[in-house]
Amino acid sequence: MNRFAGKVVLVTGAGRGIGKAIARRFAAEGAKLALLSDVEADLRQTADELAAEGVEAERYIVDVSDERRVEAAVAAAANRFGRIDVLVNNAGIAWEEPVLDIKPDRWKKIIDVNLNGMFWVAQATAKRMAEQGGGAIVNMASTNGLVGEAGYAHYNASKGGVVLLTKTMAVELGCKGIRVNAVCPGYIQTPMSEAIDDAEFVERYVRDKIPLGRVGRPEDVAGVFAFLASDDAAFITGETIVVDGGQLAF
Ligand SMILES: NC(=O)c1ccc[n+]([C@@H]2O[C@H](COP(=O)([O-])OP(=O)(O)OC[C@H]3O[C@@H](n4cnc5c(N)ncnc54)[C@H](O)[C@@H]3O)[C@@H](O)[C@H]2O)c1
Repeated sequence: MNRFAGKVVLVTGAGRGIGKAIARRFAAEGAKLALLSDVEADLRQTADELAAEGVEAERYIVDVSDERRVEAAVAAAANRFGRIDVLVNNAGIAWEEPVLDIKPDRWKKIIDVNLNGMFWVAQATAKRMAEQGGGAIVNMASTNGLVGEAGYAHYNASKGGVVLLTKTMAVELGCKGIRVNAVCPGYIQTPMSEAIDDAEFVERYVRDKIPLGRVGRPEDVAGVFAFLASDDAAFITGETIVVDGGQLAF
């Protein structure tokens, strides 16, 4: 498939984990990439790997919670490539913390990156998409944005916010040719999940909760982002697709 030949795709959090797999998937389908993340070494690695495969990729080192720097980076990417056809709004953080122990700075940090940051990037990109006559935005939510999981009140609240931000932007921006959808992964093996859970926890989790009998791979999620951003999904907007091996089916 070459659904993104000549298209410009902006991916946030592209330095590792799911964001990196998404960047690789779009590149494999012909896209040019604007890669954005807060960790320079990771992002350089992703960009270098893509460049070695002949993919046109530019790096932007930005913390998505800094709205001024987000605006500047999106403006720079739009200038560099002439347009932005697709936004993959993926950057996010997570950690486990009991609700009664969450300190204000920890609550604010997660909301600032996962919800506010997602909004700054979506708004800055949607402005360019509106000017150019359309585009597709796919936001990274989570099954934790649909159901509660103990120990993640701040994370769950941020992802629930992303689900409703997605629907609202879809309703408001449809008339400008901009589709806005979200993906809700379940348990995906990445540096983020590896930092939180040990192997014993993961084994029990899979046995008790995931009908397909394994954790997800970043590539399981990447294909769904590509589908939602492509013309195969031309009449889909405001949708939330769960990618969880069946976890929320029972
Ligand atoms: N791993 C899972 O099980 C899982 C499940 C559901 C949803 N998600 C979501 O998927 C997304 C990616 O998760 P992952 O597991 O690949 O995580 P990860 O930690 O492996 O990668 C996150 C990426 O986002 C970047 N990032 C983090 N904070 C940033 C900031 N303030 N500004 C710019 N970039 C920033 C990191 O540098 C990194 O490149 C997150 O939004 C996460 O909440 C993950």
